[in-house]
Amino acid sequence: MSEHKDRVVLAYSGGLDTSVAIGWIEQQTGMEVVAVAVDVGQGGEDLEVIRQRALDCGAVEAYVADAKEEFAFDYCMPALKANGLYQGRYPLVSALSRPLIVKHLVRAARQFGATTVAHGCTGKGNDQVRFEVSLTSMAPDLKTIAPVRDLALTRDVAIDYANKHNLPIETTKHNPFSIDQNVWGRAIETGFLEDIWNAPTKDVYNYTDDPTYPPLPDEVVITFEQGVPVAIDGRAVTPLEAVQEMNRRAGAQGIGRIDIVEDRLVGIKSREIYEAPGAVALIAAHQELENVTVERELARYKRRVDERWSELVYDAQWYSPLKNALDAFIENTQTYVSGDIRMTLHGGRATVTGRRSDSSLYDFNLATYETGDTFDQSHSRGFIEIYGMSAKLAAARDVRFGRGVNFDEDAH
Ligand code: ARG
Repeated sequence: MSEHKDRVVLAYSGGLDTSVAIGWIEQQTGMEVVAVAVDVGQGGEDLEVIRQRALDCGAVEAYVADAKEEFAFDYCMPALKANGLYQGRYPLVSALSRPLIVKHLVRAARQFGATTVAHGCTGKGNDQVRFEVSLTSMAPDLKTIAPVRDLALTRDVAIDYANKHNLPIETTKHNPFSIDQNVWGRAIETGFLEDIWNAPTKDVYNYTDDPTYPPLPDEVVITFEQGVPVAIDGRAVTPLEAVQEMNRRAGAQGIGRIDIVEDRLVGIKSREIYEAPGAVALIAAHQELENVTVERELARYKRRVDERWSELVYDAQWYSPLKNALDAFIENTQTYVSGDIRMTLHGGRATVTGRRSDSSLYDFNLATYETGDTFDQSHSRGFIEIYGMSAKLAAARDVRFGRGVNFDEDAH
């Protein structure tokens, strides 16, 4: 085989920065660029249009993948089973897509004989870490380069370059925000949002309508099987369809808008706006079905695991041993998470109004205060006596040492 140039696979969005990066990388490093575009449900342009633009911008090859089903099945569904919310609120939208994009980058690198992977991230965010740490887990032989971070590809340089080389890409339209979106949600940052006192304006949102003036309430029944939605209002759905339909219906009610100052992996606090109508509604439904079907001790422990899982995924550890082991735990907890949840979607809220499950642990006859009560209340007396024993002993000691609970209002 004759000598050929080294190749780099570039995570290509079709936007200005990564379009310029194709030529810029070649100019700065002498490597040929293979563009890789992965559809994770971000909407927008057709993959074929993106492929052609990559080639027009100088890519030697373009690899495009419709990964929407794969993303929903292998990334969103595990997040749903884990009730994945970073800092209790952010449904991990971008954090979920990076590991999948890297998988395709590696596939393309093998297919086209590349030695290096490139991405368009800056040096300040989480996504650079997610790309590169995921790569380390999957293909440690591949090197990385980030033109914006490592090759001084600033916005101004990009605009100049695109104009000078007549790249088929818009350079005049100035988007005030940095946006990342996929089927699980949408992340909006920078611009005037960097002043954390500034309220988000209407133009920030795209997946959700204003919840202040909602349409009529929308009642929905979501059927789960082992933690995964399988039907909506009795119609069978795939995971992708479930998320898409809930995005539409919960989005119309303005559900899933999140405004948060979050702790980035790199130590910076940053202000983020998210909208994740489907994710937020599905997680609320899933959580409630767990309340009905998961045994108390397991449920309590799982809440901690869920939180840790979410931190790991946020922190670029998707392919790490701990995350994998927690996945196995979570999977085990989902055995009986099957049944129906009825919700009312309205005015920014997804409110659960009913639950039904063959594997329910809710026992009407134990819970009822009406006739049919099978709970023998006389057992509680002895239970409390023994259950409270250690607290009682400690309180008695406090009294002996003069540290008992003080009931005298004037004492302090
Ligand atoms: N802060 C969020 C995260 O770390 C969203 C990042 C969005 N990325 C972007 N390039 N705008 O997951």
